Amino acid sequence: MNNEKSVGIIGLGTYVPEKILTNKDMEQIVETSHEWIVERTGICERRIAEPEIATSDMATIAAQKALAEAGISADELDLIIVGTATPDMLFPSTACLVQANLKAVNAAAFDLAAGCSGFVYSLITGMQFIKSGLYKKVLVIGAETLSRILDWTDRGTCVLFGDGAGAAVLGETENGFGILGADIGADGTGGEFLKMPGGGSRNPASKESIEGKMHYIHMAGSEVFKFAVKVMGESALKSLHAAGLEPDDVDLLIPHQANIRIIQSAAKRLKLSMDKVAVNVDKYGNTSAASIPLALRESIDAGKIKDGDTIVLVGFGAGLTWASCVLKWGKGVN
Ligand code: UT7
Repeated sequence: MNNEKSVGIIGLGTYVPEKILTNKDMEQIVETSHEWIVERTGICERRIAEPEIATSDMATIAAQKALAEAGISADELDLIIVGTATPDMLFPSTACLVQANLKAVNAAAFDLAAGCSGFVYSLITGMQFIKSGLYKKVLVIGAETLSRILDWTDRGTCVLFGDGAGAAVLGETENGFGILGADIGADGTGGEFLKMPGGGSRNPASKESIEGKMHYIHMAGSEVFKFAVKVMGESALKSLHAAGLEPDDVDLLIPHQANIRIIQSAAKRLKLSMDKVAVNVDKYGNTSAASIPLALRESIDAGKIKDGDTIVLVGFGAGLTWASCVLKWGKGVN
């Protein structure tokens, strides 16, 4: 990768709603069991946003924490990118709503639609603006209120997802710290396998779209599973090779948290023991674009990441899409 300017995460913030929905609670909603959910997915509980809270609200709180950690004010931001599949509304973009909330008066703003790959897609996109010299500080957010688009009568999907947000401030780093290698990709032929068909120009809201449950997540779970198992390892390897590294060099893998079995298979493909893999799918379920920053924050807080460590972020999602990057953690300066 072109390294004349190093770019990395200089501040990180997250938010999850307080309300917890356990698997036992799910047993009251659909025909399921705690045992089935844990065995097939690894999920024990998930967070659900209060009715008055939307994606931009959680994104804003996470962003404020990221700005505080980066030690910069909102007016120093040049760009805000929000990776989300659950924007507050079709337009204006959630990024514009966050820009207004933060009073980030100098920032351009746009949303990026890459499903659960949204955070890493946004991170890699944001990095380009700094590498090119156009911008200095970019705020990248993955935020989702998936509980609003779940069919709470479909046990194949409603047990899987949760709400949350994560934000990272990107800036220039020193001494080779920051993003060392990256990979993004898409296979639009798999778009059918994970979608919300209603509410857009194809199927605008109507009596029929509501009766046809088009405003909910529709997923062919086993197809997405097969795709995920294939691309997680492949993409992580591509990023590592772009950085001139091998899986042996990895201190911590931070995979998208969709299903523990997918995470384990990615670890196996990279020949990493599970103590080198961040897992919190048990606590939050699949929070889509928010899952990687949430797992990153928890790993830092648990002392599992120190400056200079090599970490790999890798995600997959609707599109179908995938994205990964390798980071040498830290700013490279005191
Ligand atoms: O971030 C990207 C978003 N999506 C994903 O990551 C999803 C990837 N896919 C998966 O994680 C898995 O495919 C699932 C967890 C969704 C499903 O696991 P599976 O092992 O592929 O199960 P299955 O869909 O093949 O279903 C097996 C059985 C079915 O019953 P029958 O037809 O064999 O009688 C389902 O009806 O399990 C049944 N089932 C359930 N049973 C209890 C499906 N959901 C449930 C449930 N509780 N919640």
